[in-house]
Amino acid sequence: MRDFISMKDFTKGDILEVLRVAKELEKKNEELLKNKIVGSLFFEPSTRTRLSFTSAAYRLGAKVLGFDSPDATSLKKGESLRDTIKMTEAYSDVIVMRHNRDGAARFAADIAKVPVINAGDGANEHPSQTLLDLYTIEKEFGNIEGKKVAFVGDLKYGRTVHSLTKALEMFNCEFYFIAPEVIQIPEYIVRELEKKNIKYHILNDYKDVLKEIDVLYMTRIQKERFDNQEDYEKVAGVYIIDKESIVGKCKENMIILHPLPRVDEIKIDLDETKHAKYFEQAANGVPTREAIFSVALGLVETLNCEILEKDI
Ligand code: CP
Repeated sequence: MRDFISMKDFTKGDILEVLRVAKELEKKNEELLKNKIVGSLFFEPSTRTRLSFTSAAYRLGAKVLGFDSPDATSLKKGESLRDTIKMTEAYSDVIVMRHNRDGAARFAADIAKVPVINAGDGANEHPSQTLLDLYTIEKEFGNIEGKKVAFVGDLKYGRTVHSLTKALEMFNCEFYFIAPEVIQIPEYIVRELEKKNIKYHILNDYKDVLKEIDVLYMTRIQKERFDNQEDYEKVAGVYIIDKESIVGKCKENMIILHPLPRVDEIKIDLDETKHAKYFEQAANGVPTREAIFSVALGLVETLNCEILEKDI
């Protein structure tokens, strides 16, 4: 059994194992989580993460309990997060939690006796998103090794960017961080790359690098993370890509990923192009999260036996 809190806690081998399990589960229906209950605690809004974790749980035979809004819980009466976690662990076998505070997932994991899966903690990390991003890159290119990846948009508050950077470091990738200065990639991530001698570029325009990169990872500039709305207005809408700005100007096989939701940074005319992979990426959330549950609950050995036996 293990928690999924930060990509820092994972080795390359751990990551490849999750991707391998996801690939197996995409091919087969396994009731690996029969009689298990998933505690789904979403203290922040979500469409993809919550629904794909729920879908993954149902597909593996689990039941899911949770609430539609934190206002419907006893937090509203002043109960602490600590006690909420203690109650949820008593009612479930694994907890999936999204919270607006950086570090909330680690806090929950330190309290809970059941595995905790971080479904996004503030501007910190979003490891399950990273695993589905990696699954998508591997599916599209056959491998992740050495890819040139450009991150565009909100790199300061973008938890998906923070987690994915930590993972891609292990695959010898080259990084392009493209953002206005006020929302550039955090210094601690840059220092880590330097320490490991990993190539990176800090830029403010994506156009010059389109011919070099394999993956264009767009992100939404997150209004809700800014303390001051005036600061948000200064950078809102700074990067908008469309068919005209991409098609014929990038590598033939370049893919565009986005954790979604998008606001205006990707125009819908790009959706029909071969480069747009963000909806497939979101759909990959189901097998990837099935794999995350299986690893979190220590059920992979069961899966290996069953699948290998059926394969022979
Ligand atoms: N990618 C992602 O976290 O989307 P949701 O906020 O809709 O869950």
